[in-house]
Amino acid sequence: MTTTVSSIKKLITLGSVAAVFALAAFYPRQFGGVAEAQRGGSTVYARNCATCHGTDGRAQTRKGRESDAVDLTGSEWSPDTGRDTRLVTRGKGSMPAFGRKLSNAQISAVVQYIRRFKR
Ligand code: HEC
Repeated sequence: MTTTVSSIKKLITLGSVAAVFALAAFYPRQFGGVAEAQRGGSTVYARNCATCHGTDGRAQTRKGRESDAVDLTGSEWSPDTGRDTRLVTRGKGSMPAFGRKLSNAQISAVVQYIRRFKR
């Protein structure tokens, strides 16, 4: 009987140790994932959007003026994850569609990234 109790205790201890290891392994990956997505957003923006919208979002580039791209810092636009995702995916007027060029994850990352221009 005492052996059963002690082996149960041992199991519980082992279980807690395993849980701590699992958490330690899981959490940094989660935070790393968020940081990765943010870095991804800035790269996606620099490569695909900055030619027109500018690195500062103001659309004061040659292509930005030519295409009359929206100033992402101004009152013309306010962030809306659903609307922006559709716009970037499908395009609108002179704004190109990126649905074939970018993955859903890249579109989602860049849609989050451009929110910074409104701050
Ligand atoms: C060829 C130039 C060009 C490129 C490249 C471009 N855009 Fe645009 N963007 C535009 C133009 C032009 C508009 C205005 C579209 C309209 O309303 O007719 C616009 C509008 C927008 C808007 C505002 C939409 C609204 O609600 O009024 C957002 C947000 C936006 N672009 C994000 C992006 C992102 C993110 C990228 C890169 C993935 C990108 N754009 C790449 C030209 C561009």
